Amino acid sequence: MNLTDEEIRFLIDLANEARRRAYAPYSNYHVGAALRTKSGRIFTGVNIENAAYPTTMCAERVAIFSAVSQGEREFDVIAVVTANGGSPCGGCRQVMAEFGLDTLVLIADGEGHLQKQMTVDELLPEAFTPKHLN
Ligand code: THU
Repeated sequence: MNLTDEEIRFLIDLANEARRRAYAPYSNYHVGAALRTKSGRIFTGVNIENAAYPTTMCAERVAIFSAVSQGEREFDVIAVVTANGGSPCGGCRQVMAEFGLDTLVLIADGEGHLQKQMTVDELLPEAFTPKHLN
């Protein structure tokens, strides 16, 4: 899927703005995500940590779960912003793959600079997906 520079900028800015609301008192690693559905709606997410560390939830999954809980299951693109342009974790890649291998993933740094751009298929090759259960 082809995005204009303006669309990319808009999604990264939204994710970066969301990042300010991350609740990350333990790692101090703030992550923001902005997910656009095929229907054009946008859902943001932030990482939400917990004193019981493993119950922490990543920003990407918060955005995806928020969208799914609002009835959306088809996604065009997700922008993920961290201070250093970090890559989505394996768990988030798996959750992205559940809803489509063609979803575009934009990875940007805290300055809003696009660092990398790839599909979920490229991020998680040979993914285990719903089709394997048929
Ligand atoms: N984190 C995310 O939000 N997304 C990822 O893909 C990688 C990790 C969060 C989880 C935790 O709050 C912090 O970053 C450090 O791992």
